[in-house]
Formats: sequence, C-alpha cells, structure tokens
Amino acid sequence: MKYLPLKEITEDMFLAHAVIGNDGRVLLNKGTRLTPAYLHRLARMEYTHLYVYESPAEDWDCTGPLSDKIRVEAIRVLRESLIRVVEHKPLNEPLISFVIEGLLKDVLQQEDRVFDIIDVKTPDNYLYNHSLNVAVISVLMGRQLKLNREELKEIALGAFLHDLGKAYIKTAIKKLQALSATDTVQIKQHTIRGFETIRASFSLKVANIAYQHHEREDGSGYPLGLIGVDIPLASKIVGVADSFDAMVSNRTYKVRLWNDQALKELTAESPAKYNPAVVRALREAVALYPVGSVVQLTGGEQRVVVAVSTTKMVLQNPKQLSDLLELPVTEFSRIAKRVL
Ligand SMILES: [Fe+2]
Repeated sequence: MKYLPLKEITEDMFLAHAVIGNDGRVLLNKGTRLTPAYLHRLARMEYTHLYVYESPAEDWDCTGPLSDKIRVEAIRVLRESLIRVVEHKPLNEPLISFVIEGLLKDVLQQEDRVFDIIDVKTPDNYLYNHSLNVAVISVLMGRQLKLNREELKEIALGAFLHDLGKAYIKTAIKKLQALSATDTVQIKQHTIRGFETIRASFSLKVANIAYQHHEREDGSGYPLGLIGVDIPLASKIVGVADSFDAMVSNRTYKVRLWNDQALKELTAESPAKYNPAVVRALREAVALYPVGSVVQLTGGEQRVVVAVSTTKMVLQNPKQLSDLLELPVTEFSRIAKRVL
C-alpha cells in the first residue's frame, strides 16, 4: 500500500479505499483497478493523492477509525444539516445524535486506535471530511484525557457541527482561495451563526464548542478573545483538532503539512495559543507517520508504514511486500526521518 500523488499512479495499481461522493454515494469501490478513464475522472474531481495497492491481494486498511458505512451516513446527515441551515429550518437532532452514536462506536471500538490516515479530501468535499476528521480526532483526544462517555458524545457532536455556521457564508463553502479582508470578517461570523443554530437543538455545551473553537489561550482568538481559563476543555480539544486537520489538508490556499510537521508546529505554539495538555493528547491520538508514509530507518533502509496504533507500527519493505517489520512504540527512535 502507498499514498501517492495522482500523477505517479499507473494503471496496474488498485484503489485501496472507496471514493465517496458528497451525496454519500460510493463512486468507486475499494479494490478497483485504476484505469486511465478512472484516473481522469478522479483528476477532474480534483483528487491530488490516493491510497493504492500494488497487488489486488493487499488488504491493508486505510479508511482510518471510521467504517465506510458510518462515513457515508455522516456525510449525508451533514449535507442535509447544511441545507436545513440555509433554509432556516431547525436541525434534525435525533438523526444527528444517531449518526454520532455510530461514530463513537467505531472510534472507541479498539483501545489502541489512533487517527492513522493521510488526507484524501478535495476542495469539493473538504467541509464534510474535515468535520468528520475533527470529530474523530477530538474523540480520540478526549479518550486520552480520560473523559467519560457523555463528555465524549458532547465533544463529537460539537466537533461534527463546529463549522455549520459556514453554511451562511458563500465564500467559505466554495473553493477556499486567498481571502479578502471582508471575507475574513464574514468567516469569523461562522462561530456565532453556528452557535445560534446548534443551541436551538442541542445543549449549551455542544453549541459552545462551535462558538469557541477559534479562541486561543493568549486571548488572540475570536469571536470574544477569551483567555485560557475561560475556555472550556471541550472547546480547546476541538480547537486543536481543527487546526491540526486544517494544517494537514490539501487546500488550494495553503501549503499542506505532514503529520509530524503539524504536530511540531502546534507544540511550538503551545502554551501561547494551545493548551500543552491538549496538544499532548493530540500527539497520542494521531499517528506521527500515518499509513502510506515512507520512512527511512536509522540504518538507511526505506519502509512503508502499513499499520499503526498507540503501541506499535508495521513497516513494509516496498521491494518485497511480504517482508514486514513490527516496531513497538518504544523503538520509534529507529526511524531517522520521513521520506514521503
Ligand atoms: Fe471554524
């Protein structure tokens, strides 16, 4: 398995994950041979990278902690919620709650699970996949911080809906290009609009997450410029998860970072912008080198990461796929650097 730029994918490779449309339909199934016609179609959908298998017999998982079933359902529910917001209709609280229960079940199923995948978003599906990733990462962080089931559910709901207010802002759900000053003022409004919409159907705690996810420890955030002691833990968690997922995403207006670079940057901005305990929880919740990464061992040998958890990492020899090396988390120092 490899994570490759589209231009390096050849027609003897196979898709390692399903491609899901914004309406929640599966457009291409896992295991599909990537013919020139499919690659052309994916390029038109603005995919820049994909996970691929070099042999149809490979079965490494690159769907992350969420099953395709829940991902598809959640995208449908989020899309429907955004339409309701635009039409000034109340949110469907039971439906959102139901899909979040499914998400929690998936994410918390395995004790040693981490957020182990690299972004495959496109400008078109950015908001959907970003909202879902932030929910998954936030729940994993909350678990590291020993929060209880009820608190994890509030965090998952708040994270899933954190950018709902963007439905009011035309520029935000179109392709994100360099923003003008007026656009920036409008974008900042999404926290307030999101709060108002969510509060009508959910608890104050859940709505506050959307309201406060851009607040920062030193008071430099928005909309209120709250300082650390006044920001609830749930909002700090979602704020860190949101920044992380934005940093590692392929967006047209910013250079994308890899997980290790983003973690380094967030650590450098702590404690000024981000709470140190919350950043530590992020480091434990996401893979430093997610599956599909190519790393170089201290001896100089290159390996592909094919599985990763809180305790271990499995590294594949790219020249001989059956040659696997299992590295306990205590031996991560054997990795000299990330190559790709
Ligand atoms: Fe936001």
